[in-house]
Formats: sequence, structure tokens, C-alpha cells
Amino acid sequence: MSDKSVALAITGASGALYAVRTLAELLSRGLNVELVVSDYGRRLLRDELGDEATLDKIVPYLSAKYGAAVAEGSLVVHSNRDLGATIASGSHQCAAMAIVPCSMKTLAGIAHGLSRNLVERAADVMLKERRRLVIVPRETPMSLPALRNMVLCAEAGAMIVPAMPAFYQQPRSLDDLADFMAGKILSALGFEHTLYPHWTGKVESDRSSASE
Ligand SMILES: Cc1cc2nc3c(=O)[nH]c(=O)nc-3n(C[C@H](O)[C@H](O)[C@H](O)COP(=O)(O)O)c2cc1C
Repeated sequence: MSDKSVALAITGASGALYAVRTLAELLSRGLNVELVVSDYGRRLLRDELGDEATLDKIVPYLSAKYGAAVAEGSLVVHSNRDLGATIASGSHQCAAMAIVPCSMKTLAGIAHGLSRNLVERAADVMLKERRRLVIVPRETPMSLPALRNMVLCAEAGAMIVPAMPAFYQQPRSLDDLADFMAGKILSALGFEHTLYPHWTGKVESDRSSASE
């Protein structure tokens, strides 16, 4: 996959920390990441992570938080209004796409093939080209339309990876929860990773008590 790019979309659902953790991990692997952020995605970056994490400052933010390895990759930022961007075409070699987090509005647009903006169009390209599309929806509780839209996307070939971190990894911080979700997203995109310890059959506390 190294000669190809990976698309990442950030939309206006809660969970900006998952998005930046995923972006940092993709860049640290030396990948070319094609990023598109909806208007409300931009707002969520600022509202949840602060002024230093706005889109225009995202690379220095990632370097400061996740380390200099993010410079190994390359980042192209597309406008969500640019339906002529590379990732709007199936002829462009974009191997996979993740939408982190995915709002119920964008989910609906993908489920119904609306292609109203670049996020929805690029997702539709992934589906029609039979490439990996990873959707990370975030809402609670979920309406029946949202549930049905997830089924439609799954039937069309997308992988639905809800923003539901687990607790058996004994997380100690929000970053631990973000690592877990980013790891799940990386796995769904087809990458191996060490973002969380793989399940061994025992939780960490069991392991320590077993060795006592
Ligand atoms: C602070 C804030 C949090 C939001 N959280 C969610 C959410 O978790 N899930 C969701 O579906 N919409 C959420 N919304 C609403 C979406 O941002 C809104 O529907 C928007 O139109 C989505 O557009 P987009 O998909 O183009 O980003 C939130 C909005 C705000 C301002």
C-alpha cells in the first residue's frame, strides 16, 4: 500500500481525539494521507482539542503530541467543497478511507449515495471501487434512521467501527482510549499495529495477580 495514499475524513461528530490519533499513526508510518475535514469537523477539532489543534496548525499539533515521526508521512489537505479533488475519482490510487468520527448526517449521505461534498463522494468512490471504507459513527442514543443507514453502508461493503473504546485494556487516560480506537481503525484499514496490547485471554490485573 506504500505507493498509494490513504484518505482520512473528519466530520462533525464528537471524538476529535480519535481523528488526530489516527492521523498521527498513519503519518508516522510514512504514508501519504489525503485529509478532508467538514465545516463541523473543523469546529469539533477546535472545540474538543483547543485552538492549537485547528486544521491550519494540525501538523505542529501532531508533532508536539505524538512525536517527530509524524514527519515521516506526507499530508495533503483537500477542501470538502472540491469535488474535483484527487480522491473524488476512482482512477486515483487511494487505497482506503476512514471517516473518523462520522456524523449521522454524513453517514446518511453515504448510505444514500448522495455525494454532496468531497467526504461523501470519496466514500462513494471507495464503495464503487470495492476498496476499504471504514466508518466510525458517533452518536448516542441512535435513531432508527441512523441504525438503518449503518446497515446500508455495511451492505455496500463499508466496515462500521463505532467509536466504542473497550475497558478490558485497563485504560488510564483519554489517550489510552484514543489509542484503542485508532488501533481498531488501523486494523480495519488493513494495517498491523501496536496501539494496544492484543488480547491474551486475561486482563492486565488478572495477569499481575496470577503471577503473585
Ligand atoms: C459540539 C457538537 C457535537 C456534535 N456531536 C455530534 C455527534 O456526536 N454525532 C453526530 O452525528 N452529530 C453531532 N453533531 C452535529 C453535527 O455536527 C451536525 O449534524 C453537522 O451538520 C454534521 O455535518 P458534517 O457531517 O458535514 O460534519 C455535533 C455538533 C456539535 C456542534
